[in-house]
Formats: sequence, C-alpha cells, structure tokens
Amino acid sequence: MSLKTKELKDLLQFALDTSYEAGEILLKFQKQRQELLITDKGADGIASEADQKSEDFILNEIKQKYPKHTFLSEEDYSNNKAASFDEIKNEEFSWVIDPLDGTNNFVNGIPIYAVSIALLHYGEAVVGVVYNPTSGECFYASRSEGAFLIDFRINPFKKYKLDHKENNKEMSECIFSPAPTYTKEKTFEEQLSVFKKNILGCRAVRRLGSAALELCYVATGNFDGYWEKHLKPWDVAAAGLICMEANVALTDFNGGEYNPFDNSIIAAVNPLHKKILGKIKT
Ligand code: IPD
Ligand code: CA
Ligand code: CA
Repeated sequence: MSLKTKELKDLLQFALDTSYEAGEILLKFQKQRQELLITDKGADGIASEADQKSEDFILNEIKQKYPKHTFLSEEDYSNNKAASFDEIKNEEFSWVIDPLDGTNNFVNGIPIYAVSIALLHYGEAVVGVVYNPTSGECFYASRSEGAFLIDFRINPFKKYKLDHKENNKEMSECIFSPAPTYTKEKTFEEQLSVFKKNILGCRAVRRLGSAALELCYVATGNFDGYWEKHLKPWDVAAAGLICMEANVALTDFNGGEYNPFDNSIIAAVNPLHKKILGKIKT
C-alpha cells in the first residue's frame, strides 16, 4: 500500500527532529572527546560512547513514537543478530540508522561526521536524513518529493533543492571522492587499479571519511563522483535516497541496480556515472 503524503511528511519531520537532537548529543560529547570511552570492534572499526548515546536516543524516540516499527542500527546490530534484506522487505516500516557516521573523524576531532536516519517501507527507502551537526548541513529527502539541503548554521529558514540534469564535465574538471579499501592485500591491489584508472586526469581527489556525507556531497554537486566497497546499509540508506531524489545515478560496482544492502556503490550524475562504471567494472 502506498504512503499518504501527510504520513510521509510526518515521518520526515520525525526523522529531521530526531537527527537534530542526536546531533546535539554528538556535539556535547565532542567537547569532551579526550575522555571518550572507545570500543574496538575489530574488522567493524571502532565505536565510542557518543555512538552509543546517540543511538540510544534515536531508538528510544522510535520506540515511543512508532512502537510497531522495526529498526536496524549499527551498534545495536553489532550486539544482536543481523537483519537481512529479505527480512526487512517484509516489514511495513524499518528504520535504518547510523548514529554516528565518521567515528574515526569524531574521535580525532575532525568536524566531518553525521547522523544518518532512513526509513524503509517494505524494503524501499522513503525518508532519508543526513545531518552534520558541526557544519549545520542537513540533507534530506522523501520518496518522490525531492532532495533538499538546509544549512542550520547559515540560514535555517532557507532550503536548497538538490536536482541535477546531467554532468558533462571533462575528467579534468571533476572532483572525486573514492574510498579504496586497505584491509587485505589482494583487495587493495584491485582497488588501487580502479582508483588509478578513474582519478588519472581528474582535477582533485577528496576523502571525507563519512560515506553518508560523501554521497550527499555528490547530491549537492560538491563532488562529481564517489565510489566505495564494503559498506553497510546504515552507511548508505539515507544518503542513497537523497542521491536518487537529486537525480544522481547509483549502481553497484557491476552496474547492478542500487540497493542499500549491496556492499558496493558508485554515485555520479550521468553521463559521468557511465564513464566511471566503465572503468570499475571488470
Ligand atoms: C565508516 C565511514 C567511512 C567508510 C567506512 C564506514 P563509521 O562508517 O562511513 O567513510 O569508509 O566503510 O564504516 O564506522 O564511521 O560509522
Ligand atoms: Ca557508518
Ligand atoms: Ca557509525
């Protein structure tokens, strides 16, 4: 059953308010970052007290307001069993949450991190919010209603519509944000070759360390292209919808249809996306 516009609007407002409040929690912890408790999650990276407190807040808000909705959230998932796409697509409403995307930046005092909240309706993203509390940039979208940016620190009353027709720039004019993986030697060599093929001749390369913000920067046009492997649904679910609503083309590394449960993603406005895919696809 499709969602009514009013219902979608309320769900989006809830996601915006909750992201904003979670962002306030992150800012509070950022001020005391020297005393932060850090947990090593092995191959899954690190988590801090701030990740946990932001998540506790978001999950409590959801449980209170929408007790029947399910959720998939990074730190909770680390302690419990995984929810697969097969399970999620049978649920009417599931929230997919990264309470702090960019933890490494956060614990090192680099002000590039975000709260990421998506809502899936039978497995399809219908609401997405990515909020960087330090810069005040709040990116959001709802299904078929477009993608927007509000800059809370500069002008909280003005929203900018994110929309692209095409990207016909030459490579020499492009700024890319690729993320080569560096955990295993073989993967590293493969990724390096993809990295080299695409960045050769481009204008510049930037790596932010927050997948959610990097995708949103493609949605705004700050970056021309972004690609990464080994991501998790909470890294991309919200920003993926923001990209799609801004007419950014999204696929996996094989050119397959984007799904937040895939482990690879390429984001760029066409025809540039096709050029990048041509060099990544083996
Ligand atoms: C990470 C960030 C990073 C990406 C990693 C993610 P986290 O999320 O998005 O940019 O390269 O793959 O795990 O751990 O900071 O939430
Ligand atoms: Ca993340
Ligand atoms: Ca995280």
